[in-house]
Amino acid sequence: MLQSSLSVTGATGTGADAPALVLKGVGKSYGPHWAVRDLDIAVEQGEFVTLLGPSGCGKTTTLSIIAGFVEPDAGTILLRGKPLVGLPPFKRGIGVVFQDYALFPHMSVAQNVGYGLRARRIPRPEIDARVEQMLELVRLGGLGSRSPQALSGGQRQRVALARALVINPEFLLLDEPLSNLDLKLREEMRLEVVRLQRQLSVPTIFVTHDQSEALAMSNRIVVMNDGRVEQIGSPKDIYETPANRFVAQFIGSMNLISATVVEAVAAGATGLVQFADGSRVSIPFRTGSQAGRQVSVAVRPERCAVVRQTPKSDGTAALAATVTHLVYLGSKVEIHLELAAGGVAVVESVGGTVDDFEAGQRVAFLASPQDCTALPD
Ligand SMILES: Nc1ncnc2c1ncn2[C@@H]1O[C@H](COP(=O)(O)OP(=O)(O)O)[C@@H](O)[C@H]1O
Ligand SMILES: [Mg+2]
Repeated sequence: MLQSSLSVTGATGTGADAPALVLKGVGKSYGPHWAVRDLDIAVEQGEFVTLLGPSGCGKTTTLSIIAGFVEPDAGTILLRGKPLVGLPPFKRGIGVVFQDYALFPHMSVAQNVGYGLRARRIPRPEIDARVEQMLELVRLGGLGSRSPQALSGGQRQRVALARALVINPEFLLLDEPLSNLDLKLREEMRLEVVRLQRQLSVPTIFVTHDQSEALAMSNRIVVMNDGRVEQIGSPKDIYETPANRFVAQFIGSMNLISATVVEAVAAGATGLVQFADGSRVSIPFRTGSQAGRQVSVAVRPERCAVVRQTPKSDGTAALAATVTHLVYLGSKVEIHLELAAGGVAVVESVGGTVDDFEAGQRVAFLASPQDCTALPD
C-alpha cells in the first residue's frame, strides 16, 4: 500500500468531523507470518462495519489490536482522531463482546453488567441506575439478581452486550457474538444487535464468518482473506460487484466461466470476451485488461436461465450446455450444467419445477450481459 500517498491527519481531520475509527497500514506478525497486514479501514460515526472472512484470516487479531490486547507491528490507529497505539485497553473507551460471552460466573447478572462502572469508580447509586437501564435496553429487566448460569445462551449474550455498552463506549467491538447460538435465535439476535447499535448510535465493528449475517446487518462489509482486505463496500456492492474471484465465491455462490479478452478494455468499461466454444459477448469489466488475457465471466445463479433451445442471437450470452443434475430446494430448483465451452454452471429457478428438465438434456445457458462481470484470473 502507498502509505505516503495519504497524510493521516490531513485525510481524517480530528475531533467531531473525524471518522470514528481509522486504521492506517496496520499489521501484526507472529514470527515470519503476518496475521494481518496493510489494513486501511475507516469507520464513520454511527456506522456498523462487519469484518467478514474465513477462519484464520485475521478478524480477531484486528479486533484485539483495536481493543489494545495486541500491539500492532505496523501502522496507526485513531479513535476520533486520537492515536490509540500504546494506550492500555481500559483507557480506550471501547466496549468488547466475545464469542464465548466471557461472563464472570461468580457474579450476578447485574454485577457482570456493572463491572466496568465499578472499575471506573462510579458511585454505587449511579451504577445501580445505569445497570437497570441497560438491562431494560437489552430486554433483561428484572433479571439482575440471577446468576449467568440460570440464563439461556441468547440471554447471556445480551448480558455481555449490556456489560460492553454500560460504559457508554466510544466504539463497540463484537467478535462473532452470535456464532454459539442456534439458527433461529441467531436470526432474532441479529435484529436485536442492530436495533441496539442504531438506538445508541455507537460506531461498531462486528466480526463474522457468516456471509448472510454480514449482508443482513452491516452498513459496510470488509471482506478479509489471509490477513488482507479484499474489498470494502456496502452489502449490495459486495454482492453485486465483487472485486475479485475470492469475494465473488465467498459471498453467495457465483458461476465463473473462463473466457479470453478479445480487445483491450479500460476499467469500468464494456469489453468483448470469447468463450472456448467461439461464442462472444460484451460485458462490463471491473478492472482494465489487455487483449488475450484470461478472465472469469462471473454471474450469479439467480440471474441466469436455462432454455431448451438456443435462442436467436440478440446480445444475450447463450452457451450450449448439458444438464448434469437437478437439486430440489423447496422454494427453488438448482439446475446444474456442464458447459460445451468448458466448466460447469448452476442456474437457480424460483418459479420452475424439477420436472422441466432432466439429466442428460441438451439446453442453452443464458445470462444478460449486464448481469455478468469479467473478473481477472
Ligand atoms: N497469539 C498468536 N500466536 C501465533 N499466531 C497467531 C496468534 N493469534 C493469531 N495467530 C494467527 O494469526 C492468523 C489470524 O488469526 P485470527 O485473527 O484469530 O483469525 P480469525 O479471527 O479470522 O479466525 C492465524 O493464522 C492465526 O493462527
Ligand atoms: Mg476469530
